[in-house]
Amino acid sequence: MDKKNLKIDQQLNKRTLLGNKRSLTLTDEKLVDFSSNDYLGLSRSEGLKTQILSNYEKLSPKNGSTGSRLLTGNSLLATQTESELAKLFGYNACLVFNSGYTANLGFFSCLPQRGDTILYDELSHACIKDGSRLSLAKSMPFKHNDLEDLERKLKLSEGEIYIACEAVYSMDGDFAPLKKLCLLSEKYNAKLVVDEAHSTGVFGNNGSGLVAELGLTEQVYATIFTFGKAMGIHGACVASNQMVIDYIINYSRPFIYTTAPSSFEFIAIQQAFKFLKNTPKLATDLKENITLFNQELKVQRPARYLSNSAVQVIITSGNQKAKTTSKQLEEIGFDVRPILSPTVREGEERLRICLHSFNSKKEIMSLVHGLNSLLC
Ligand SMILES: Cc1ncc(COP(=O)(O)O)c(C=O)c1O
Repeated sequence: MDKKNLKIDQQLNKRTLLGNKRSLTLTDEKLVDFSSNDYLGLSRSEGLKTQILSNYEKLSPKNGSTGSRLLTGNSLLATQTESELAKLFGYNACLVFNSGYTANLGFFSCLPQRGDTILYDELSHACIKDGSRLSLAKSMPFKHNDLEDLERKLKLSEGEIYIACEAVYSMDGDFAPLKKLCLLSEKYNAKLVVDEAHSTGVFGNNGSGLVAELGLTEQVYATIFTFGKAMGIHGACVASNQMVIDYIINYSRPFIYTTAPSSFEFIAIQQAFKFLKNTPKLATDLKENITLFNQELKVQRPARYLSNSAVQVIITSGNQKAKTTSKQLEEIGFDVRPILSPTVREGEERLRICLHSFNSKKEIMSLVHGLNSLLC
């Protein structure tokens, strides 16, 4: 072994031995999709593709954005898209990022300052945690959806306080208690920041998310929306008040020091929301499929996993069991991915089943039948 690679080789070998070494694989398109985040089928929509391409042709913009938004990368298309998004989400202002990862990194690394406190749900996505780690503020997890633990930590917090959560948890499919979190934030004068990665497009009027659906926009300080999941494209934005957006433009390194998204990305964002507005059936089909899945599944699940989000979870405990069950489902034609530790905690390894508007009733019934016979 080359001496230079000794350390990383040992670490990779450890993963191989534990059965959790990651590798890049191609998706088998012949399998029925129960694993992608394409909840509304917009990524495979020929209608949306045509709409994006015809607008791209019509506007005929530059291929690339040519620079950071603060240099040559800004455009009327970018600012118009952001105004439309702000209006849709019910905020004063909005700023597009290259991805949800950089949007959260950009927000949490710069707004909370030295002497401030970030309290984040322990099951928050890696990018909320990484952003908090980059910040000079003190950061601390609270137990998942546990308001008592959060309140205990709020009492100990210093400076300006930020509370971070996800509207729908990506690996669990359950919801944050948003109304109660708003009340607690008000009581302690904290700023609630909600990541809507798995609720953008699925909930709210015209896909405006769960915060808007629950009428909480005024109480939620900032919301992060992503477009790579139900919206079927790519990118993300932070929605908040104008001062927060100005602050990010001035101080957020993941926003400033990167090439702006191309015009194609902005056109795709505009058209995806337009398409969704004109096709409300997508969201209702998805909701019907979620109801059917939950009605028919007989596998015992703790109450917190009985969710009406598109993400359904069955805990298998152990990487091997999760992998074997996923393989058995593949043999009968279904793409259901195992989520292994260390992505989730040891003992909480699972099958993550993503339901879509395009899954037929027959496909859902066959999957449920497979799960019932393998796991009951
Ligand atoms: C909750 C949550 N936030 C943020 C992200 C990152 O978004 P993106 O994939 O657009 O970088 C994800 C994606 O996995 C997510 O699940």
